[in-house]
Formats: sequence, structure tokens, C-alpha cells
Amino acid sequence: MSEVQNQKPEKKPIIFSGIQPSGTLTLGNYIGALRNFSKLQDEYDCIYSIVDMHAITVRQNPAELRRRCMELAAIYIASGIDPKKSLIYCQSHVPGHAELSWILNCFTYMGELQRMTQYKDKAAKHADNINAGLFTYPVLMAADILLYQTNLVPVGVDQKQHLELCRDIAQRFNGVYGDVFTIPEGYIPKVGAKVMSLQEPTRKMSKSDPEDTYVALLDDPDTIRRKIKRAVTDSDGEIRYDPENKPGVSNLLSIMSALGAGTLEELQNELAGQGYGTLKARTTDCVIATLEPLQAEFKRLIADKAYLQGVLDENARTANYLANKTLRKVQKKVGFASRG
Ligand code: TRP
Repeated sequence: MSEVQNQKPEKKPIIFSGIQPSGTLTLGNYIGALRNFSKLQDEYDCIYSIVDMHAITVRQNPAELRRRCMELAAIYIASGIDPKKSLIYCQSHVPGHAELSWILNCFTYMGELQRMTQYKDKAAKHADNINAGLFTYPVLMAADILLYQTNLVPVGVDQKQHLELCRDIAQRFNGVYGDVFTIPEGYIPKVGAKVMSLQEPTRKMSKSDPEDTYVALLDDPDTIRRKIKRAVTDSDGEIRYDPENKPGVSNLLSIMSALGAGTLEELQNELAGQGYGTLKARTTDCVIATLEPLQAEFKRLIADKAYLQGVLDENARTANYLANKTLRKVQKKVGFASRG
């Protein structure tokens, strides 16, 4: 056999990320996560999950949850992820997530979970429903990641603590049973512009805050225009990037820059001496120009349920195959009886 034939195609590093099909995706999710996902597809083997099992840790309306799963699949694809290159699938369609999660539960300490700030926040927010799933949420997330021997996990700061825990669990397991899991690293995108709330620009833009604080990915142009028009700025009237002292103005500049309108410096020079009205109009134009094609593609896809279902089914088959490879190894290591 010639040497060329002998060579296996080089394995690409694996990227895993998940988005919950709950609430509305915002411009912040798009700039901070989604739009980077599609750029990673050629260099990495990417797995993008619709984490519906995480979503039910807070009460969901079943019909709405089902609808949002399909919508998220359409959004993933509309944002440029090619389901022939990357995996887009529903977490609940791959039982390995739940199975590995159980095993990892037995390698996670109560104290570790009690320290998780997201758990503390959510428990305070949903005091009438502090369920065990909310508590072990980070273990399911660890299972998501470890099931696919993931190398890199694109995460925002709010999920860093969960990723650290995932690494700790994996190292603990490997310490007992040998190298079973790849230890994942966080992947911080190079241009990681953080989008802030339009009303309280010192806080991150969040889908759990009131409507007028964020631009939703599927907001129509009039809504986008209105929300940005009402965005909080300041009273000194100068267009300058200075997040410390001018968080509102800086946020708009940084949104524009993230959407390709120029560097912060270029924008600052270009808009110097203009009023905030102009700044807001320009920001609005940038946002609409970005979201309009995405929304058009979304509308086309969401009307084609058969196509979306086909994508989810086919990708879940591949995900199951990959997940089971790790799961079988883990089950053997912990001593589960072998299957005939
Ligand atoms: N917990 C993540 C969030 O709310 C979603 C998520 C679930 C995730 N599993 C994951 C993110 C695995 C990255 C990797 O944002």
C-alpha cells in the first residue's frame, strides 16, 4: 500500500456547544455565540445541540418548547451552520446524555454543585421549583461535552464555572479509570464583543430581562428601530468609545463594530461631532442589515418542517453513534455487565 493510501484523513478538533430552546435569542447571543459557530465549521468538527433537557429544569409549556426546538434548528441553519458539515440535533434524541449524566452524578460532589452561581441565581428566581434537575444541571452539561470527546467549548463568562466543573469531573474520572475522557478547554472567540442591555448598558443583554432591553433575533425592523431609538445613552453628547464612563454609547459602537461597520476607532472618527440620533440610526441600519437576511432564511426554513425534521433525525443518528462510543467505554470502566 502506498504511503498516501495509508494516511488517515487528519482528525479535526471537536467543538461542542448547546443553546437552550427557551426564551428568545437576542442580538447578544448572535454576536457572542451564534455567528461564530458557522465560522468554525471548516477547521473543526462542530456539534451544536438544542439542549431541551436543560430547558425543562424550569417549567416549560410543552407545545411552546416543541415549537422552539424547531425554531432553534432553523436559527442555527439560518445563521450559516451547514447541517451536512456540523451536527445540529436535539439533546433528548440522544439518550446517552441522560445515561452519562447519571454516571457522572456519582462522580460529582454536592459541595461542588452548591457552589455554582447559576444554581444559586436560578434557585432564588424560581423559589417555588428548586428541583433536583436544576441542581444537577452542570452534570448534564458535563455529560454533553464529555460524550463527544470534545476539545473546545465556546462559552461565555456565565458558563465558565460549569466548564471548570466539567473538567474537574473528567479529571476525577480519568484519575480512577485511565484516559477515558478528553479534557475540554474553553474557546473564547477572538472578537468576543459582549453586547450590553439597551436600558442598563452596564449589564449583559439578556433574554430573561424585559423586552425593551434587548433586540431579539426575530424582531422586525420597526421593533428594532424603536428599541435602539430608546436605548439609554448619556448626557454629554460626545460619540466616544469609553465603556467605563459612557457604557450606552460604547455599547452601540461596539455592536456596529461587531457587525462589520468598521473598527471602534474608525467609527469614532467617522461619527465625531454627530448627535446620538445619528449614532442610533447607524446602529439600527447595521442591525437590520445583519438580521434581515437571517430572518428571511429562517422564514423559509421554518415553513419546511419536513426538511427540518429530516435534519434533526439524521443528525441525531450520527450523534447517537458518536455518543455511544464513549458511553460504552464508560459503562465498561465502571463495571456495568457486558451486553451479549
Ligand atoms: N448551559 C448552557 C447555557 O445555558 C447551555 C449548554 C448546555 C451548553 N450544555 C452545553 C453550552 C454544553 C456549552 C456546552 O448557555
